Amino acid sequence: MANTILVGAQWGDEGKGKIIDVLTEQADIVVRTQGGNNAGHTVFIGKQKYVLHLIPSGILRKGKTCVIGNGVVIDPVSLVSEIDGLEKMNVKVNGNLFISETAHLVFPYHRELDAQREILKGKNKIGTTKRGIGPAYGDKAARTGLRIIDLINTESFESRLKLKIKENNEVLKAFGAKPISFSQVHAAYREAGDRLKPFVANTVVLLDKAIRRGEEILFEGAQGTFLDIDHGTYPFVTSSNTTAGGACTGSGVAPNRMDRVVGVMKAYTTRVGEGPLPTENAEIADMLHAMGREFGATTGRARRCGWFDSVATRHATMVNGIDELAVTNLDGLDTLETIKVCIGYKVGKTRYDYVPNDVETLAKCEPIYAEFPGWLTPTDKIRDWKKMPAKAKSYLKALAELTGAKLTIASVGPAREQTIFL
Ligand code: GDP
Ligand code: IMO
Ligand code: MG
Repeated sequence: MANTILVGAQWGDEGKGKIIDVLTEQADIVVRTQGGNNAGHTVFIGKQKYVLHLIPSGILRKGKTCVIGNGVVIDPVSLVSEIDGLEKMNVKVNGNLFISETAHLVFPYHRELDAQREILKGKNKIGTTKRGIGPAYGDKAARTGLRIIDLINTESFESRLKLKIKENNEVLKAFGAKPISFSQVHAAYREAGDRLKPFVANTVVLLDKAIRRGEEILFEGAQGTFLDIDHGTYPFVTSSNTTAGGACTGSGVAPNRMDRVVGVMKAYTTRVGEGPLPTENAEIADMLHAMGREFGATTGRARRCGWFDSVATRHATMVNGIDELAVTNLDGLDTLETIKVCIGYKVGKTRYDYVPNDVETLAKCEPIYAEFPGWLTPTDKIRDWKKMPAKAKSYLKALAELTGAKLTIASVGPAREQTIFL
């Protein structure tokens, strides 16, 4: 399979978890490189549903090594409960999971600050997952964060945490929020630290050795291109590099070791949280929600929905270097007579063929649509490209052509077997 970076080509929740699970079959190692437990990656194995937040989705395949890289921010208490939850479901984590020593930690004061900043922003809020992601990456950039290596070093952890809580309680006081108890946090984090210690490793060296042995690595992106801190719809973004470059910096695997980039995208568009979404459409949202689809895997919020936006996915091909495309949720469009695809934006007389950087301009963008005839046939039982309705094939080919990459996977349902390889 070679070393593959898998990224979300839209606003997150593209079905990365499902595609990772499918591609893991050919990989030796799966690595998460950014984000935290803001992610929710859904995998179905038979009727059993798994939602992964911090642990790579590759853990569901027996004998695969999974790594949480240095670029991830880890809430250790939440990670322990994710491990316990998986082991209860008979998924073997112990011995298969490695956690980077240098990944930064998320603390309760990060979550509280995340919530307080959102309240202060009022109607301009980001609509975060309130998992403390922004404040934790903020501490990392300000060089005041604590890392996994600090957590497992019991001697210095106590005094460093004391100082952090003292400082943050002052900030929380200014917000009029309740202070955080040092003793409670310390006890919970010590316990989590003891549980996680056996998993902690120098993952840069571990990955380098694996590459030298000829093992193949799959890099599991979290969130999506337009939630990238640099390339997304700032400030309505998450706080990490969700684009392909993040896989290198977040793992310590160099760019020249990477062989291909797979972009995952839905056959339509969704977004959860605030910020512009040019193709947003109430009818398609109502239709998908009525089918019980498009509710967030982490927060349960109803996702905003819209038509496929090829201006956005073409932009994603540019910033990620996407070679291959996996298009998911094609079956969501099975009942539509006509399907729209955005092929350009316009604001007054100005036409945009790329995503403008200014969110206010993006919010004003009116989509220019092309229309495609619907196939009006269920696709969820199709397993072979040759059996796909001709109109569905044309639709998928058009998405790939407009996006500028090669279509290699079409997904017609959440299950492993509902995957068509081209
Ligand atoms: P991720 O964050 O990118 O891993 O995506 P999520 O798991 O948050 O959301 C994707 C949703 O779509 C999940 O509920 C998946 O089970 C589901 N899914 C993925 N691919 C397909 C598909 O082809 N068809 C259908 N019906 N559901 C899919
Ligand atoms: P996966 O990996 C979709 C969104 C939030 C909010 C913004 C910032 O499942 O695709 P944050 O809590 O990160 O500070 O929130 O980013 N967001 C996601 N949206 N899928 C995700 O992850 C997301 N992770 C964060 O809704 O708009
Ligand atoms: Mg998700």
